[in-house]
Amino acid sequence: MSSGVNVTQIEHQYDVLIIGSGAAGMTLALKLGKHYRIAMLCKDDPTEGSTYYAQGGVAAVLDEYDSIQSHIEDTLGAGGGLCHRDVVEFTVQRSAQTVNWLVELGVNFDTRTTGDGSTEFHLTMEGGHSHRRVIHAADATGREIAETLGSHLNTLDNVTIFPRYVAVDLITRDKIGLRGKDCVGAYALNLESQQVELFRARYVALATGGASKVYLYTSNPDTASGDGIAMAWRAGCRVANLEFNQFHPTCLYHPEAKSFLITEALRGEGAKLVLPNGHRFMPDFDERAELAPRDIVARAIDHEMKRLGCDCVYLDIRHKGNDFIMSHFPTIHARCLELGIDIIKELIPIVPAAHYTCGGIMTDTHGKTDLPHLYAIGESSFTGLHGANRMASNSLLECMVFATAAAEHINSHPESLESNLGIPFWDETQVTNSDEDVIISHNWEELRRFMWDYVGIVRTDKRLQRARRRVQLLQQEVTEYYSNYRISSDLLELRNLIQVADLMIQCAIRRKESRGLHYTLDYPEQAEQAIDTVLTPPLFG
Ligand code: FAD
Ligand code: SIN
Repeated sequence: MSSGVNVTQIEHQYDVLIIGSGAAGMTLALKLGKHYRIAMLCKDDPTEGSTYYAQGGVAAVLDEYDSIQSHIEDTLGAGGGLCHRDVVEFTVQRSAQTVNWLVELGVNFDTRTTGDGSTEFHLTMEGGHSHRRVIHAADATGREIAETLGSHLNTLDNVTIFPRYVAVDLITRDKIGLRGKDCVGAYALNLESQQVELFRARYVALATGGASKVYLYTSNPDTASGDGIAMAWRAGCRVANLEFNQFHPTCLYHPEAKSFLITEALRGEGAKLVLPNGHRFMPDFDERAELAPRDIVARAIDHEMKRLGCDCVYLDIRHKGNDFIMSHFPTIHARCLELGIDIIKELIPIVPAAHYTCGGIMTDTHGKTDLPHLYAIGESSFTGLHGANRMASNSLLECMVFATAAAEHINSHPESLESNLGIPFWDETQVTNSDEDVIISHNWEELRRFMWDYVGIVRTDKRLQRARRRVQLLQQEVTEYYSNYRISSDLLELRNLIQVADLMIQCAIRRKESRGLHYTLDYPEQAEQAIDTVLTPPLFG
């Protein structure tokens, strides 16, 4: 059915289109040559994304007693044998220069006074690290980084930010009937006008973050709906290791505290995990106790909650006292107090929640994907760094290291925009306004609930097959809905979440072992050989 409305179609032309304004997207924009005209899309305000909410900090080798080798070995250890050693080395070797760049831009990291009266950066500790190596700005590191990068971006004349523009799909040459798979732009829904606009670009970078919103309980903001991963898959890119979704062990358990994280740095600074009866249980599970890697701590909490039938367990930081807590964890103290919990005097109720997507769009060390002129950086990408379990505070580092490498690659391959490509505008003549939005809200709820129940911390073949059947049904319904009705932001997110959930389930079904974050009762042992799960889209090859 025709919409019957005549609208003026809008077309934008840029050298580089960056989709996402988190640490990855902003770093890329800042590192690209100033002669490039850059468009940056973000589906909400520019600060809204996981980066802004990061608490713990950035892992980097900065202390004279620490070493690059030690950071590499810790990352490999947390990753359960699946990290790509060359990529780990590439990333860790660039950690100090990445932090120096942030400091030069004005990021205000915490410092401390040493015994001889000099000042140095305060480095905190987190799970899996054998040294203090996490540089931070109290417990609001992401906010400090996002605001500093954002303030520099706002001074650049060559960058135009498009807030509240939701990228719908990538445009590739083969999709518009031309030879080649090169990415030549994207369609994006302008949430103000509700019109889909065309963005043509010589280079496109996906910096869209992760997909943890596929789960009912998550530490992530609403932006984390896996849009980039789904768009890249539909365009013909391979994805890998999506079975490894990281559950952060300690999110605040409170009916009004949607998504609020209690940083691992609390445990790094001595907080203990206790049961409702006060028993400290982590030493029963791992000799590193509260500072074991996240997969182990989250599984232990899940085990104890199921064994005791309790709704949460607790973190205890009371012994550190008022001054320490107020100077190191002011954000957490203030938020908990708003909710009626004084962490100086009381235990903090916590539960695990979906936190980080270790798998994603396959890239090389320049962020290049399978498609010419398409890059993927940050949490949307799979670089090989994290293996079967990301070590704490290695993500912001990865965002900035790979965005820098992508910028170097684009800067050294200057190509101009191809004119006269004849890219069609978005066609709305065959769709109408929906009269049953309930399908979106119902399917949204259903998807996130069964992903939590069947594809969660502990899996079985039966649960995964159940999830697979359900996701296929949702996929059929949403595909039909998408072809008949005018798109909305909720529909786009649901479509992408269902796509990514399907890929996660496919990956999980293929892995017949337990490794890192993928734990299944049917195959509790780790296989001898560590192999990535790679999915190839039907279009590819
Ligand atoms: P994000 O920062 O998530 O940004 C994604 C961007 O993409 C947003 O601008 C969004 O609007 C945009 N976007 C998405 N889809 C679309 C679309 N379709 N169209 C247009 N725009 C789109 N890691 C650490 O290393 N250290 C920490 O201390 C730490 N703490 C964390 C605490 C919390 C609460 C959370 C949630 C994560 C934490 N992480 C931490 C993980 C880390 O913050 C993220 O992995 C990282 O910030 C991801 O950055 P990004 O640039 O890839 O994506
Ligand atoms: C945290 O502060 O606990 C989160 C750190 C991370 O996800 O790397």
